[in-house]
Amino acid sequence: MTNQKTWSDRFESALHPAIAVFNASIGFDIELIEHDITGSIAHARMLAHTGIISVSEAEQLVTGLEQIRQEYREGKFNPGIEEEDVHFAVERRLTQIVGDVGKKLHTARSRNDQVGTDIRLYLREQIEQIRGLLRDFQSVLLKLAENNVETLIPGYTHLQRAQPLSLAHHLLAYFQMAQRDWERLGEIYRRTNISPLGCGALAGTTFPIDRHFSASLLDFDRIYENSLDGVSDRDFAVEFLCAASLIMVHLSRLSEEIILWASQEFNFVILKDNCATGSSIMPQKKNPDVPELIRGKAGRVFGHLQGMLVLLKGLPLAYNKDLQEDKEAVFDGVKTVKACLEAMTIVLKEGLEFRTERLAQAVAEDFSNATDVADYLAAKGVPFREAYNLVGKVVKTSLTAEKLLKDLTLEEWQQIHPAFEPDIYQAIAPRQVVAARNSYGGTGFKQVREAIGRAKSQLD
Ligand code: ARG
Repeated sequence: MTNQKTWSDRFESALHPAIAVFNASIGFDIELIEHDITGSIAHARMLAHTGIISVSEAEQLVTGLEQIRQEYREGKFNPGIEEEDVHFAVERRLTQIVGDVGKKLHTARSRNDQVGTDIRLYLREQIEQIRGLLRDFQSVLLKLAENNVETLIPGYTHLQRAQPLSLAHHLLAYFQMAQRDWERLGEIYRRTNISPLGCGALAGTTFPIDRHFSASLLDFDRIYENSLDGVSDRDFAVEFLCAASLIMVHLSRLSEEIILWASQEFNFVILKDNCATGSSIMPQKKNPDVPELIRGKAGRVFGHLQGMLVLLKGLPLAYNKDLQEDKEAVFDGVKTVKACLEAMTIVLKEGLEFRTERLAQAVAEDFSNATDVADYLAAKGVPFREAYNLVGKVVKTSLTAEKLLKDLTLEEWQQIHPAFEPDIYQAIAPRQVVAARNSYGGTGFKQVREAIGRAKSQLD
């Protein structure tokens, strides 16, 4: 049942079986095992480097630890609940393999600095993987943008038709959000990559350790300045979950757009069969499950962020067992973000087809060129506010007459204002409306081509 010999002889009886289960983290912190082994190897080498143990003892420890790694990879090491957590599981297995020298591994260390080391090693690796997935997502967006510079799509504010856009411009907005996500994770990586190893339980250690040595073996950039801070800091986990939440916000907004676009009301995209599902009773349906799931999963990542903040806010220094609760939040945040990035990248790459003709038709049948009529008059010297009011009237009468602006005759235009000339028709054609927005960062085709060039260099 519960392990009898974890604790010192101070303890006379074993844990209540239900409490042992309650207390254990092995069910989830097994995720850290390879990092635990890597951290322990660095610790063992540091112990030899400083003469705290002998070089040959360290070699035995390292060989034993590598054997555990191998056993784990081959599926032969499956510690159960009796081991409490991954740290004890590895240490005990090590002692079975190498004998009593295994009991020296935990010299000048505590599980508190050990678990802090493990989770940082884990997270920095995951951050790099997520940044890679963001790059894949951005590459697909960029490719789609390159193919759709001159594809028009209605642009909205308040979900009301506003001004037509280049589809590429719309997609590049998501590219830039992902760019910020990528940069943000890079900054968080730097604050994650700090070694707490050697902070001990809370106060440091009586042994002449070399924290810089173990930190450099583990490729940490720096070490914690203060041992109390080192074992109790989880700011990096909060920051990570915050960055993960923002990635989910971005993916969820894109998901929402795809869901709208795929509806019969918008009808802007076709969801391909490889990324859509059917209904169990309504044979006509094709459902956007993937974006819906992404939108739904955003909530759990935000929940983990909130959970982590609440977990920390009342904790006195230094380590408290509450901190064991950090892991599932971080692990699930990592897994969710990775899965969602991968799924969205697949949807964009091969699960979605823009109905370009329908899009072209959509931008031609609304009043999203009204601003351009006002701009036309303003360019001819009519004060903009006056022009704006005039065009408002035109829209009103056109709506009543069930006419579009392009259907007004030149006489009708000139009755509104004598400044209108035949070139008004050209000025309000959707393609021209988009092309004309040639201000930096705008949707004009020339600008969009330049934005694509800049996006490419951001990717390099
Ligand atoms: N399983 C523990 C955790 O995840 C390891 C650290 C335990 N430290 C302690 N003082 N009980 O946080």
